Amino acid sequence: MKYYSTNKQTPAVSLQEAVTKGLASDKGLFMPETIKPLPTEFFDTIETLSFQEIACRVADAFFGEDIPAGTLKDIVYDTLNFDIPIVKVAKHIYSLELFHGPTLAFKDVGARFMARLLSSFISKQGRKNVNILVATSGDTGSAVANGFLGVEGVHVYVLYPKGKVSEIQEKQFTTLGRNITALEVDGTFDDCQALVKAAFMDGELNKRMLLTSANSINVARFLPQAFYYFHAYAQLKRRGEADRVAVCVPSGNLGNITAGLFGKRMGLPIGRFIAANNNNDTLCRYLQTGVYNPRPSVATIANAMDVGDPSNFARILDLYGHSHEAITADVDGITCADEQIRKTIKDVYLTTGYLLDPHGACGYRALEERLEAGETGVFLETAHPAKFLETMQDVIGDQFKIPARLKTFMKGEKKSLPMPKTFEDFKRYLLNSKI
Ligand SMILES: Cc1ncc(COP(=O)(O)O)c(C=O)c1O
Repeated sequence: MKYYSTNKQTPAVSLQEAVTKGLASDKGLFMPETIKPLPTEFFDTIETLSFQEIACRVADAFFGEDIPAGTLKDIVYDTLNFDIPIVKVAKHIYSLELFHGPTLAFKDVGARFMARLLSSFISKQGRKNVNILVATSGDTGSAVANGFLGVEGVHVYVLYPKGKVSEIQEKQFTTLGRNITALEVDGTFDDCQALVKAAFMDGELNKRMLLTSANSINVARFLPQAFYYFHAYAQLKRRGEADRVAVCVPSGNLGNITAGLFGKRMGLPIGRFIAANNNNDTLCRYLQTGVYNPRPSVATIANAMDVGDPSNFARILDLYGHSHEAITADVDGITCADEQIRKTIKDVYLTTGYLLDPHGACGYRALEERLEAGETGVFLETAHPAKFLETMQDVIGDQFKIPARLKTFMKGEKKSLPMPKTFEDFKRYLLNSKI
């Protein structure tokens, strides 16, 4: 399968090149040339299949032409060695719990898949000294760092906005050492993302270093996220609740919702998607007005969604032939302010006992507001609430406790390098630290 650029100014490339380069040379995002629909028989019996079996079928449609079946199966089974259950929270509302992986966020799926796929390419090519650049608004950094920790020939640079990620999130990628370096950027997530993109466009850097991106701009990161939409549908079908499904996705850089829209294009019977934004509501404003007008990001308590100019919007536009009408036929949007997030966490906890994290709370609230009679709603619970300890204790009180496996991260010593948001400084640093 070939991968073309959303900017269409450069020839299509192989999967290996798309994964290794991350971003196309015309600054566009790679898209698979075809999105293969899955046969109706697959959906007729999907409820009889395990998560890994479902994921193998979906992975085969994306990557089957380029990766030997045995290797792909190994990568899928190794990536998905944890479950993603749906849990009933209220009448007709389910949580898809994406936080049972090693770093307790949905990013584990894409990051682990990508780490394994890239490692298989690297060992096939006998390549050494691959530098992975990853900008994080909170959870990507730890998932990618954990996915690549100790992988020989790979060095990961995690760029994160100073003071804008939670303490636990920060500890998860600043305490690992070895082949992981954390760069604390004096700016926002958008600044971090801009530095990474500029690095890929810089001729001199790319001549002297082999650079790869592990953000959701990378096809190997975002496509595997489609797996769990199929798994959610299978679980609902098992419960006899899959007739009219609406899925709500707490959205920032839009990688997650884009993967779901790919699933729908492959025939997954999801009626519609609802994107939940925090006060960084660029997508919601686009859905309402048809005008894409990015703004600088503002800090919220759902910090991982603090993205003012979401990269994957280009993929959504491309997927729908730039038609606002077609996009809004599939996607609705709702904005959730900090006060509403706090109130939702508290109300849901008091009435149902279920603990939402601030991102999942945006999703729950959006569903509560928009779910229609006869629909079953699933919101993506994208991270474990304990990753946002301060907010949770503030809202729920001191009875909120951190699970044991997160405490291990808290014991490590934070090690990060301060980095200005200017590209020249970042470039100088990379050239000097070249592995
Ligand atoms: C916990 C959490 N929720 C939601 C999001 C937003 O996902 P996306 O950037 O794919 O839209 C992120 C992304 O960083 C996240 O970490």
